[in-house]
Amino acid sequence: MTFADWLRLVHPILAVVVVYPLIGIVVRYAWQTRQRRLEAKAKIKSKIPPTAGAEHVNIGRWLTGSVTGLSLLGLAHPIFKTIVKKQVWAANPGQVIFIVLMFAATIASLVFLYRAKTKGWRVTFTTLTSAGLIILGLQDGVFRRTDEWFFSHYYYGLTAAILMVISLAILPEIYRQMTWRKVHIGLNIIALLLFLGQGVTGARDLLEIPLSWQEPTVFSCDFANKVCGAPPSIPN
Ligand code: HEM
Ligand code: HEM
Repeated sequence: MTFADWLRLVHPILAVVVVYPLIGIVVRYAWQTRQRRLEAKAKIKSKIPPTAGAEHVNIGRWLTGSVTGLSLLGLAHPIFKTIVKKQVWAANPGQVIFIVLMFAATIASLVFLYRAKTKGWRVTFTTLTSAGLIILGLQDGVFRRTDEWFFSHYYYGLTAAILMVISLAILPEIYRQMTWRKVHIGLNIIALLLFLGQGVTGARDLLEIPLSWQEPTVFSCDFANKVCGAPPSIPN
């Protein structure tokens, strides 16, 4: 494997080693938080520690940052690889500067969302972070699989990241109103299914991407008829 191949692996490695364990912890505490609240409502003495809710939120806040960061990394690799390959810097430096500024603005918007207190600022920075992810997702080089959007790592990934950003944005409302608590549960059940989908589509995509030294041969294959090189001879 070359250095370029290892660069491509940074995103899947971080997903498996950092993000999925965090998802496991957040979901475990989510379940406990709910069970404890329902037991308290039914006036049953709960064995679940009262800290479950706070732990869920504590790790949940980390999860929002990790999933958004992971998605940005997943986008950055193909975008910058295309910039280098097509020598975009020489032809159109403005485009490269725009892309770099978009990455910086998206990260800054998320940092501001973590600090925002008022509803207005939370809405503003949620919109900006989500718009940043979508605009970066539209750049050249990103493999979107739009003809199979219903099983696309790109569409699932960006939706899951935006759902995590929304969880962070509505954090105070979840405590204040039952309706927002229910919205949070509903949206994050979808997020959880998308995370499972990311495991499947990510592994599939890794299998489909060739090592860099194999690219010239693999990309010259006929993908529609699933043949490479000379077509197999048909016996008489
Ligand atoms: C896969 C991700 C997630 C799932 C499945 C999930 C699910 C849940 C569930 C089931 C509850 C308990 C609701 C109840 O009381 O019935 C809950 C509570 C809560 N969640 Fe999440 N959540 C996730 C991620 C997040 C994230 C990323 C944040 C914030 C950044 C967050 C913030 C909260 C808050 C503030 C509460 C209320 C805690 C309390 O009552 O003490 N959650 N969540
Ligand atoms: C929380 C889970 C994950 C999220 C939110 C996520 C998000 C993303 C996003 C937004 C992209 C860019 C669009 C694309 O090329 O499809 C991407 C690329 C990619 N992801 Fe993931 N991903 C996750 C987990 C995984 C896992 C578990 C694997 C493999 C085991 C994986 C493998 C890949 C690969 C191979 C690419 C293409 C990267 C490239 O072209 O260099 N991802 N991911």
